[in-house]
Amino acid sequence: MSDFLKRTAVRHVKPRLSPALWARLRGDREPPSRPDLTEIAARTGTDKWGVHFYTPHYERHLAHLRDEELVLLEIGVGGYARDGKGGASLRMWKRYFPRAQVVGLDIEDKSFLDRPRLTTVQADQTDPTALRGVLERFGVPTVVIDDGSHRPADILATFEILFPLLPDGAIYAIEDIQTSYWPEFGGQEDPSAPGTTMAFVKALVDGLNHEEFLTPSYEPTYTDTHVRAVHCYHNLVVLEKGDNLEGSNKRKVLRKRFREQPRSSEA
Ligand SMILES: C[S@@+](CC[C@H](N)C(=O)[O-])C[C@H]1O[C@@H](n2cnc3c(N)ncnc32)[C@H](O)[C@@H]1O
Repeated sequence: MSDFLKRTAVRHVKPRLSPALWARLRGDREPPSRPDLTEIAARTGTDKWGVHFYTPHYERHLAHLRDEELVLLEIGVGGYARDGKGGASLRMWKRYFPRAQVVGLDIEDKSFLDRPRLTTVQADQTDPTALRGVLERFGVPTVVIDDGSHRPADILATFEILFPLLPDGAIYAIEDIQTSYWPEFGGQEDPSAPGTTMAFVKALVDGLNHEEFLTPSYEPTYTDTHVRAVHCYHNLVVLEKGDNLEGSNKRKVLRKRFREQPRSSEA
């Protein structure tokens, strides 16, 4: 096309067309759209979609990190003690995060899966030395997924070791949290029983509002001040790490309370 025709088309035709149609007329190729996490999950065969319905929730919390050069640690590779089995979710994460180092930790040897950007480590998820070793070797993860033993005591032990070591903005997910109600996994049938995964999660929810507690002697815990959000879904909890010190307007209530309190001479 001559320069004259090109200039005329830009002046008279372009303003009448949508940007997409103009791009097609110019012969521009549309950038191929990337598959979302659910599509990748369906292709890799992980039960995070189909058996469970976790992937849209993960997409919601992880999409902003997709092109980051981050470390993702998943506890529980899959396949248990079966030779050559497991790794579906690690493959999913590797495809979803094109620049991530994906690390899978399992009590069984899953080294058959090792390749560039995907490494497995054999260890118990409650072993502090092994967990710290993972961070020293690969760097501090931005994303942690606990899909390991699903036993409440293990889930809590792993969280206690890892969570304080994570940076602000980190996402910590705990899967298959239904075991909290299953004695066969170390849980408790009574939903309000103490010591379970869900009891811990409910305390985290209260901790979001710790600055509003009126007890003067209350000492905030580490999670009170470092858990910024608790997202609960069916069988899945997603925690966001970050500063949780926004301040409170409870002084209004306290002032009123003291004004209304009878003086000791009046009592
Ligand atoms: C549900 S599977 C993981 C599935 C996988 N994340 C996926 O979505 O494809 C649980 C895995 O956790 C491992 N596991 C069980 N107890 C563990 C422990 N104490 N420490 C580390 N891994 C453990 C098992 O060997 C099993 O492979």
